[in-house]
Order: sequence, then structure tokens, then C-alpha cells
Amino acid sequence: MKRIVVVVAVLAFSAGAVVAQQDQVKRTQAMMKDNGKNAGALSAMVKGEKPYDQATVNAAIGQFDDTAKNLPTLFPASLKGVKFEGDYSPSPKIWSDKAGFDAAIASFAKTVTEAKAKIKDLDSLKATMPAIGKECSNCHETFRVKG
Ligand code: HEC
Repeated sequence: MKRIVVVVAVLAFSAGAVVAQQDQVKRTQAMMKDNGKNAGALSAMVKGEKPYDQATVNAAIGQFDDTAKNLPTLFPASLKGVKFEGDYSPSPKIWSDKAGFDAAIASFAKTVTEAKAKIKDLDSLKATMPAIGKECSNCHETFRVKG
């Protein structure tokens, strides 16, 4: 009898851990998808497909800033080896090269902070956008895998 109780408790615990892990995947993925949307909104302005809009710029940079602050907690060890739904998953290098990943986060955070002060009009957006894009792709090249 005692044994059954223990087994049930263990099962309940691991089910809880799986739910927590899925919640974390959703949170991480939602943040990256928002990055994608905001980067898309900025590049539409750069390309002249949309008029320059400071509110959209502020919202996008604010969200990048939020991402930079959250990145250190977006990939806890519980996500190691987890395949995300959709096209991309985290690379195991996030955990095997933690120093490199932390450096990529710090570099992204610095660029976003600088961008916040710089972007005032279309010209400054055009001048600053490549630096932001480079930070996104630098991290993706090393720490994101397709599939
Ligand atoms: C420090 C690392 C890092 C930085 C900086 C970073 N990303 Fe990511 N990104 C990742 C990782 C790891 C994944 C794979 C996990 C995932 O899909 O959430 C990812 C996934 C994504 C995805 C795919 C989301 C999905 O699953 O559909 C998009 C879109 C994205 N990033 C956009 C961006 C944009 C835009 C920026 C820059 C403004 C950015 N990211 C900055 C690490 C980073």
C-alpha cells in the first residue's frame, strides 16, 4: 500500500515537471516569435513598405530589451535536448558553451541599449537596424538548430 502511494506521488511529480517544461517552451518560443514580428515591422519601415512610426519602433526595441533581460532564464537545463514544435530548436551548445551563450546575450543587450538611444527617424533606423540583425543571427548561427 505504502509503495503504491509513493509511485503515485512520483508520477504526479514528473507530470508536473513535464507541464512546467512545456510552459517554459511556450514562453521561450512566444518571446522569440515576438522578436521575429518586431524585427519584421522594423524592416518593413527600412524597406519603405510602411511609413516610419516612432511608437512601433519604441515597442519593438522595448520588446528586444525585454528579451535581452529574459534570455538568461529562457533556456534552463530542463530544456536541454527538447525538440520545439515548428522549425527551430535550441542547440545543445547553449548548455555546453554556456560562456559563449552568455556572451551572445550580453552583446545583444548592449546593442539594444545603444539602439534605444539612437533611433529617432528613418535614417537612424536604417543605420542601426543592421547591428541588431547581426546580433540576432550571430546567436542563431551558433545556438539555434533547424528542426
Ligand atoms: C542569445 C541568443 C539569441 C538572440 C540574441 C536572439 N535569438 Fe532568436 N532564437 C534563439 C534560440 C536559441 C532559438 C531557438 C528556440 C526557439 O525557437 O525559441 C531562437 C528562435 C528564434 C525564432 C524562431 C521562433 C520559433 O520557434 O518559431 C525567431 C523568429 C527568432 N529567434 C527571432 C529573433 C530575433 C528577430 C532576434 C533579434 C532581435 C533574436 N531572435 C535574438 C536565440 C537567440
